[in-house]
Amino acid sequence: MIKTAVIGASGYIGAHLFRAYRETFPDCIGTGFSRARQDLLPFDLRHPALQVLNLEETGHEAVIIASAKPNIAWCEAHPQEAYALNVTGTLKLVEQLSRTSLKTIFLSSDYVFNGERGNYSDTAETSPTTEYGRQKAEVEKEIPHLTNNYTILRLSKIYGTDWRDATLLDLLAADLLQAKKITVASDQFFSPTHVNDVVSMTLFAQEKNIKGLANLCYTQAYSRYQIAKKIAEGLQLSSSLLDVQSLHSIPAMKDRPLNTSLVCSAVFQPLYTSLTSIDEAVNQVVSNWSSRQCSQIYA
Ligand SMILES: NC(=O)c1ccc[n+]([C@@H]2O[C@H](COP(=O)([O-])OP(=O)(O)OC[C@H]3O[C@@H](n4cnc5c(N)ncnc54)[C@H](OP(=O)(O)O)[C@@H]3O)[C@@H](O)[C@H]2O)c1
Repeated sequence: MIKTAVIGASGYIGAHLFRAYRETFPDCIGTGFSRARQDLLPFDLRHPALQVLNLEETGHEAVIIASAKPNIAWCEAHPQEAYALNVTGTLKLVEQLSRTSLKTIFLSSDYVFNGERGNYSDTAETSPTTEYGRQKAEVEKEIPHLTNNYTILRLSKIYGTDWRDATLLDLLAADLLQAKKITVASDQFFSPTHVNDVVSMTLFAQEKNIKGLANLCYTQAYSRYQIAKKIAEGLQLSSSLLDVQSLHSIPAMKDRPLNTSLVCSAVFQPLYTSLTSIDEAVNQVVSNWSSRQCSQIYA
């Protein structure tokens, strides 16, 4: 494993990566911003000061930038604030990294695409339609002008399977079990990827010294409706709880890309068969909730 610092180790993906690095390097650096934690150093990516982290002096060889404002609606409503972090601050940090021996690893997004056709490859032309997507696309394009020691990992929707982790599958299960009618789009496709696979694929990319840009995702695309239906079936609930809509008929979603599914980069081919399938993930989430329900009934 390569000793790596995680900028944004208080975030969802950053925390999983940080935990993995800390298993091998108990002193590796992780940073937080508004969520102060004893094991994290404070770091404001809008005004990055790489030197204070002393990374080269402490044997780090890479930095993962997992800090961002990733909320799409928030970026749309606050484009300048989002840009200050997602683009200006991020590129300042990359520029500082370019003057060191540290490799830059940047987490990008499938929102760099307009979603008109899906199945986007590593080399597909970007075509963002949202502020968030434009900001990610700009960083993707600028990084190679600043350094050649970089890896851009382009992610799709990331979820976990821990009980109440408040990610995609868990939230769907929680709502369905409360008999809430949930609106799900049948025409919004993405490549849902387990957060543990994000960690294993990132470590693999580092081990193999993969440079440039690689799509890091599960190998199959799903719609939110398909996933919700699997969860309803697993929980033996009626699929009438699913209010199936076209994405663009949902007012808050009318400008969102429809099919941002990615083709997982060929560099990850040795890992394809080990990735978590949606069926495995659904089974895990159903089992989490079923066992909790039973223990509540029999308590
Ligand atoms: N989750 C997904 O499905 C997904 C999909 C595609 C791409 N991505 C990308 O993956 C990366 C990580 O996403 P995530 O879901 O883990 O995000 P997240 O949970 O929202 O975490 C965001 C991180 O950014 C930090 N941050 C916010 N403002 C900051 C500032 N001014 N300076 C420094 N750090 C700041 C947060 O720190 P505090 O919490 O301490 O304030 C937190 O550590 C992002 O680049 C995102 O665009 C995520």
